[in-house]
Amino acid sequence: MNSDHAEAVLGILTSQRAHRDFLPDAIPETDIEKILTAATHAPSAENSQPWEFIVVTDDKLRAALGELMQRAWDGGGRDASRDVLSAGVFADVDRGLTGGIASAPVMILCCADLNRTRKETVGSSLFPAVQNLLVAATALGYGSALTTIATVFTHELRNLLGFPESVVPVALVPLGRPARKMGLPRRDPAGERTHQNGW
Ligand SMILES: Cc1cc2nc3c(=O)[nH]c(=O)nc-3n(C[C@H](O)[C@H](O)[C@H](O)COP(=O)(O)O)c2cc1C
Repeated sequence: MNSDHAEAVLGILTSQRAHRDFLPDAIPETDIEKILTAATHAPSAENSQPWEFIVVTDDKLRAALGELMQRAWDGGGRDASRDVLSAGVFADVDRGLTGGIASAPVMILCCADLNRTRKETVGSSLFPAVQNLLVAATALGYGSALTTIATVFTHELRNLLGFPESVVPVALVPLGRPARKMGLPRRDPAGERTHQNGW
């Protein structure tokens, strides 16, 4: 990789944001394939690759996923988050979970097959793949967000999308062209969180 490529990758990693407003434009299947190919190149415990991705483009199913997210938010998520999130993030999440996220033309339910991973490593084996998915989406100019709130409704998601008992949902990622440009993410400087040769 030459230094231009390295800078491009680092630029994507430091500009990637949680998008919750989307244009309706469909995403070409070839782009979905590229994004999921990147996802499936993530590391996983013992290279178990326990991921399964359900790509949802159907209008009724996307609306049903949006309703589930809103139900989880109205049914406790909003109250639990009000004092935890900053006012700005709370407003973004509130708008996202009451329609913004459901406006995405594609939603990808990221799941783990418990037959292919230990319970203890479900998260650590799935989230690298989800992160790759987000980064690949950003590289291709799509907005996306890592959301988990809908996974409180595993049973309802299983009824809706028909995945087997051994499969559990871990994240629901909306994908689409961003409806608005977002600034750079606000993060504490890495230096404030870094320790050399011990704390
Ligand atoms: C484990 C996890 C769960 C999340 N769940 C949700 C969610 O349910 N709904 C949502 O709108 N955003 C969710 N987010 C996105 C965060 O709110 C977002 O990453 C954070 O506010 C930083 O946003 P930024 O990258 O735009 O600065 C989640 C993020 C993580 C890592």
